[in-house]
Amino acid sequence: MSYLPDSVPLYGPEFAADPYAAYEKLRRMGPVGRVELAPGQHAYLVTDYRAALDLLHDTVTWSKDTRPWQQKQPADSPLVPMLGWRPNALFNDGKAHERYRSVITDSYALIEPHQLRRQVSTVANQLIDGFAADGEADLIGQYARRLPLLLFNSQFGADDQEGPRLEADMAGMLDSQPDKAVQANRDFVSYITELIHSKRLQRGQDLTSWFMDHPAGLTPEELASQIVLTMLAGNEPTANLIGNALEEMLSNPAYYSSLTSGALTAHDAISDVLHNDPPMANYSAHVPRHAVNFYGTWIRPHELVLVSYHAANTEPRPTAHEKTAGGDGAHLAWAAGPHSCPVKQPATLIATVAIQQLTSRLNDLELAVPRNELRWRPGGFHRALAQLPARFTPIAPNPDGVSPWTSSSPYTSTRPDRTWSPKPPACEPSGPPYR
Ligand code: HEM
Repeated sequence: MSYLPDSVPLYGPEFAADPYAAYEKLRRMGPVGRVELAPGQHAYLVTDYRAALDLLHDTVTWSKDTRPWQQKQPADSPLVPMLGWRPNALFNDGKAHERYRSVITDSYALIEPHQLRRQVSTVANQLIDGFAADGEADLIGQYARRLPLLLFNSQFGADDQEGPRLEADMAGMLDSQPDKAVQANRDFVSYITELIHSKRLQRGQDLTSWFMDHPAGLTPEELASQIVLTMLAGNEPTANLIGNALEEMLSNPAYYSSLTSGALTAHDAISDVLHNDPPMANYSAHVPRHAVNFYGTWIRPHELVLVSYHAANTEPRPTAHEKTAGGDGAHLAWAAGPHSCPVKQPATLIATVAIQQLTSRLNDLELAVPRNELRWRPGGFHRALAQLPARFTPIAPNPDGVSPWTSSSPYTSTRPDRTWSPKPPACEPSGPPYR
């Protein structure tokens, strides 16, 4: 009989390199296992698909209000910044949750898919122009991680010049040096405060203005908290969805040949990733309202319980959620129940357009290192590559106002048939605000 540990660490390079081994150990503990999220910081993790669904739908037993758990945490807990309560959709139940969530869903509904497609193409082209002439790029650092932030900066109505500031703040918040991370957090709060102030003076056709004027009537604190949640909850998983799907397309021979033949699409790669490498690997923090025997494990009130979307999706036995031929099958990459991701369709569209734009503009795109040399970023919550080095045939950027057909154009390419991409029209004003 093999040794069964008391808990399985979800931090450090070992877990990042091989999460499957950790999930295997956890499965041997039963549908609910014990994990260490950071040194000395324990929680329960649900790895069984059926148990995960039961938890995510059972709002009588489980609460998203983490305050009772938070009160027992040390002041310097590394988990509280991520899991501490805030007045937003993620950490509230019932009516309060519905009110906060409606602000986000109603506002996103005002962005028409064709507008979103254009917004993403604009940002994608801007980023691709930045490295297209180099013939090589890190598709994580130079593309997947940058695209959602520049998109949010524009969707929330900030000036384009503010984009790099938002990027620097977000990158700083992940810094391993605590003082740098604290400073970046302060800078991010200033960014949000200034953004709200500018929209108080003059509304625009943007998410910030729509959040402000939503009939839910958010208080200033609630408004800031909803904006922060949307940006934070959207940034990491969207970047990872783009990055993981690109990795799949560049490393899996079934996709690799299709980059030229067009047989398998960005949509297929995204679907693959949602099943097998979900961008959020483990999350959905809940606490039981009372002591509960959950699938054979007694859990005391207010203990932290997370759901492993990654383990549940990839559990080996044949179950109802298995992919069906030609169908998408069921997976938990967006979670499930009342707190499932409220913007699945827009997020899928963002990732699809980001990938289509990149693979259609760059010719001969291929990995610059063997697949087994790719490194995954440590951390228990996400499934994210640290880098994705790629090479391609260099092309000249497509500068404004220069026709690709003009023979006098100084902007020639080594591959004339791939240099031209249509300049997207300026973004149209979005739909009507709430009446
Ligand atoms: C534009 C991009 C995105 C935005 C703005 C966004 C926003 C949000 C928000 C506001 C919530 C909290 C909902 C609630 O508690 O009622 C949420 C939850 C969630 N989102 Fe998204 N999201 C985005 C993209 C993604 C992507 C790409 C994924 C992964 C495929 C994802 C996975 C999830 C999951 C698993 C949850 C549940 C988290 C939990 O309950 O702890 N999201 N998202």
